[in-house]
Amino acid sequence: MSDRIDLAALPHDFLWGTATAAYQIEGAVAEDGRAPSIWDTFSHTPGKTDNGDTGDVACDHYHRWREDIGLMRRLGTNAYRLSVAWPRVVPGGTGPVNAKGLAFYDELVDALLEAGITPSVTLYHWDLPQALQDRGGWPERETAEHFAEYASVVAARLGDRVRHFATLNEPSCSAWIGHLEGTMAPGLTDLTAAVRASYHLLLGHGLATAAIRAAAPGAEVGIVNNLSTVFAAGDRPEDEAAARRQDGHVNRWWLDPVHGRGFPADMVETYGVDLPERAGDLRTIAAPLDWLGLNYYFPAHVVDDPGGPAPYARAVRRPDVPRTGMDWEIDASGIETLLLRLTGEYAPRKIYITENGSAFPDVVRPDGTVDDPERQDYLVRHLAACAAAARKGAPLAGYFAWSLLDNFEWAYGYAKRFGLVHVDYGTQVRTIKGTGHRYADIVGAHRSRVRRAA
Ligand code: IFM
Repeated sequence: MSDRIDLAALPHDFLWGTATAAYQIEGAVAEDGRAPSIWDTFSHTPGKTDNGDTGDVACDHYHRWREDIGLMRRLGTNAYRLSVAWPRVVPGGTGPVNAKGLAFYDELVDALLEAGITPSVTLYHWDLPQALQDRGGWPERETAEHFAEYASVVAARLGDRVRHFATLNEPSCSAWIGHLEGTMAPGLTDLTAAVRASYHLLLGHGLATAAIRAAAPGAEVGIVNNLSTVFAAGDRPEDEAAARRQDGHVNRWWLDPVHGRGFPADMVETYGVDLPERAGDLRTIAAPLDWLGLNYYFPAHVVDDPGGPAPYARAVRRPDVPRTGMDWEIDASGIETLLLRLTGEYAPRKIYITENGSAFPDVVRPDGTVDDPERQDYLVRHLAACAAAARKGAPLAGYFAWSLLDNFEWAYGYAKRFGLVHVDYGTQVRTIKGTGHRYADIVGAHRSRVRRAA
């Protein structure tokens, strides 16, 4: 895999961004009317996160956002992907709107625009208001309906300035990890609940897409999926079948319905759970989109696992391959493969890499700098693969590095650092890492090339 980034393959108006999510960075969980989300509940449940870490303070971005915009300026990025916390804006999940919660995002958006940074707003990055979980959460249809109401509130307030909205971030994690594997909020291990949640997440996406369009007619609406390249780790036909099921589980289940193809029949059969479908739902879910978001981190190599949980495919840890600090295999070619697959199979108008990045254990040197050559290498190789896909015709319109800041990495707490910027959680001091400087150079090189061409 080459590590030369073919910058000429990228459009002149390419969005060079960083990404974050509300619960991972904001802190201030009990301020200005915010109510608890399922992640407050989960992280405060003993044994659910490393070290008992919670998002109570996180990066204190709720108070330090001006400084964080300053960091984006130093990186030279022209876009920022943030998520809005549903429990800040509609604390009960449905019902009264919290003016202070909305005002926070309103001010943030204004300041981003003033800094020349395009905001890309995700409406749901896993922080379901606990009040809705208490009524059944995503396995219940009403959650999808309330999501659309909340989406409408946010779009009505921000849609005069925000052009890019995403409905959901990585719904497969919400459904499968949150309801089947149980290692993310709400922590269930119930296949029926998981399949129902997956259905209502996608229904919520469709309803919210229409609600955003109605409230903010100029908005470009998309959905963000974390996709994976999937390989059979053995050469038995059973392993090939397992790879097909894994592909259905993590990729096709999330892509086919929003592209009007319905839920993949082989997976409906694999799960063996009746979908809570009503007339017209599939049309709602398939509302045409302006863009697709691709989050890519690692490939999956699987074998047949008939005794395991659905989809009865077990990931195999391959020896002697490079890995990140998450123990995730590094394979930059996967991002190119997926970009070309999306292009070929689903013909999206635009694709954004809405997340891509790596965690490594960083060390702050005595001179205060953070040198992170492995993360730099990961960044450059993946950007090179993105540009290669663009050269081959993928309509790639932007790249958002995960993440702007080290932050609360869900069940891993603060143990894993993905940031371009190091955060000292004791002092909240931010330090741009070597990778951040490298990213700034790449962004600058693209900008110079565009200027020369003008
Ligand atoms: O931190 C997460 C993010 O919230 C969703 N995508 C994957 C990232 C790294 O695990």
